[in-house]
Amino acid sequence: MVLIVLFLFIFSFSYAEEYGYQVYKQYCSSCHIEKIDETTDNLSLKAPPMDALTRQIKYFYRKKDSFTDYLEDFLKEPSPEKSVCKPCIDRWGLMSPIKNISPEEIQSIALWMFKNFR
Ligand code: HEC
Repeated sequence: MVLIVLFLFIFSFSYAEEYGYQVYKQYCSSCHIEKIDETTDNLSLKAPPMDALTRQIKYFYRKKDSFTDYLEDFLKEPSPEKSVCKPCIDRWGLMSPIKNISPEEIQSIALWMFKNFR
């Protein structure tokens, strides 16, 4: 019985993260790549990569809840005041708001980012 509960727990947990990855693919990956590797042409980047971005957000918002709140707030209505990366705005211009994304979808992206990148 304990094993079953444990299994279900682990399963539902990784499911939420996996879902977050799908949501990222759908809404964010056209601009944000996951991470830089040796084949990446830095000049071709359209937006900060997710790994560097997560690190930068965590510098300001270390807890999962505040991380999620920041993301929710920024995606709905980006502004320089909310930004954790002013040089990003200087380089690419302010990001446009993401329309038609649900709070659940944002929460799952936040979880995926928070867990996946240091
Ligand atoms: C049309 C291109 C585009 C899409 C799609 C996009 N972004 Fe961005 N994003 C940018 C650009 C350009 C920046 C850098 C400028 C800035 O910080 O506003 C940025 C910056 C950010 C930042 C840093 C904001 C800050 O504090 O300055 C976060 C967080 C972010 N994006 C998350 C996301 C997530 C999550 C998604 C998907 C739900 C997404 N973005 C979709 C272009 C995009």
